[in-house]
Amino acid sequence: MASPLVDKEYLKEIEKARCDLRALIYSRSCAPLMLRLAWHDAGTYDAKTKTGGPNGSIRTEEEYSHGSNNGLKKAIDFCEEVKSKHPRISYADLYQLAGVVAVELTGGPTIDFSPGRKDSKISPKEGRLPDAKRGAPHLREKFYRMGLSDKDIVALSGGHTLGRAHLERSGFDGPWTKEPLQFDNSYFVELLNGESEGLLKLPTDAALVEDPEFRKNVDLYAKDEDAFFRDYAESHKKLSELGFAPI
Ligand code: HEM
Repeated sequence: MASPLVDKEYLKEIEKARCDLRALIYSRSCAPLMLRLAWHDAGTYDAKTKTGGPNGSIRTEEEYSHGSNNGLKKAIDFCEEVKSKHPRISYADLYQLAGVVAVELTGGPTIDFSPGRKDSKISPKEGRLPDAKRGAPHLREKFYRMGLSDKDIVALSGGHTLGRAHLERSGFDGPWTKEPLQFDNSYFVELLNGESEGLLKLPTDAALVEDPEFRKNVDLYAKDEDAFFRDYAESHKKLSELGFAPI
């Protein structure tokens, strides 16, 4: 089994928590926020020092108070409702399960989920997540540090098919697509459409179109949703397992 944490009972609890998360995410319409929570817990990983990553540390006040995590306390509190019913499940597993359920529930691909992540309360210093005002070299620096690739960068950026930016959280405003509660390839279609009334493009989104290497996969995902779903499911699994090796 993956880790001493995971036994038959634990797996049963995971399946129950999956059902509870589905109900919670559906009733609160919070799929985008839950996906962002999973990404921000995982995306602090540093492959060299093996620090950060999907370890639940985002629940600490120190970490959820980082500017990049504005708004995520709400998602942490939602998850606490599920944690209190299934106390054995680690926060690290719970947040990643919430991300997987959020994608599935909004029509995205099924993402394979392996439990067994251990919790940590050690938060990395602020500044490990990408800065939306920067360009391609910055994206590469941040994602390569996690051990992820150019293909992962483009596929995972497709997470912006869900949700929107909020002026009071990030200083940016608006959704990336016309249906922000539908997980599909419209993020890439809109990226290629250029400026579109009411829709947002962060500098880091625009970088995917401007950089020739990134652009290849933007073009592919805009015309082939199956290819996007296949690559997204693979990259999301990698992100959710940074620094964690399930057996
Ligand atoms: C929202 C930046 C990658 C999922 C946001 C927001 C910013 C941002 C500025 C707006 C936050 C707000 O104002 O509420 C970035 C940057 C990335 C990145 C610079 C670098 C590539 C990702 C990835 C995922 C993701 C990899 C998931 C796989 C989301 C979601 C939202 C969001 C779902 C919407 C949250 C909501 O509606 O409340 N992102 N992001 N992002 N991000 Fe990203």
